[in-house]
Amino acid sequence: MPQKKQNQLTEFISKEKIAKRVSQIAKQINKDYKGKKPIFIGILNGSFVFLSDIIREVNVDCEIDFLKLSSYGDEKITSGKVKMLKELNCEIKGRDIIVVEDIVDSGLSAIFIKKLIEKHKPASMKFITLLFKKNISNLKFKIDYIGFEIENKFVVGYGLDYAQKYRNLKAIYVLNC
Ligand code: IMP
Ligand code: MG
Repeated sequence: MPQKKQNQLTEFISKEKIAKRVSQIAKQINKDYKGKKPIFIGILNGSFVFLSDIIREVNVDCEIDFLKLSSYGDEKITSGKVKMLKELNCEIKGRDIIVVEDIVDSGLSAIFIKKLIEKHKPASMKFITLLFKKNISNLKFKIDYIGFEIENKFVVGYGLDYAQKYRNLKAIYVLNC
């Protein structure tokens, strides 16, 4: 009888490296937003760990809201369609918005979010992503703060999932299955 293949995890970015980078990004945000009151918008589900670490190192007055999107279902490749599963609950007009993503892959979600937020006329909008898949992202605008640029690998941990699993891992792993 054929054996069911086990998912294999290989550590890719250690928790120490992540913590150091999170701290550097937060420092930059503190500088760039001094005297401002930005709203951080976390893109659920994947960004919740990254956002919670960043936010605790941010020392400017800020608010937080969440937008829930889905483009992957339980697969390892994007469906090509972005669905909104939870809308925003904050007033965007005239505010400085910082969108927080776990990973930018095809860039479809980022394009969808940018259009959605621009409709509400923010004073400014910037994007932070922990991971950026440089070979496949095909964006016409820049992501303002990038944690790590990575090759085209499927990664999990630190909020990132495969079929809703592995979000609780402290480091980031490459998943082979
Ligand atoms: P995009 O719209 O293709 O840029 O994909 C964005 C979303 O796909 C992310 O917010 C993740 O939820 C998911 N995603 C993309 N690549 C990976 C990966 O390597 N591991 C886990 N989730 C991923
Ligand atoms: Mg996901």
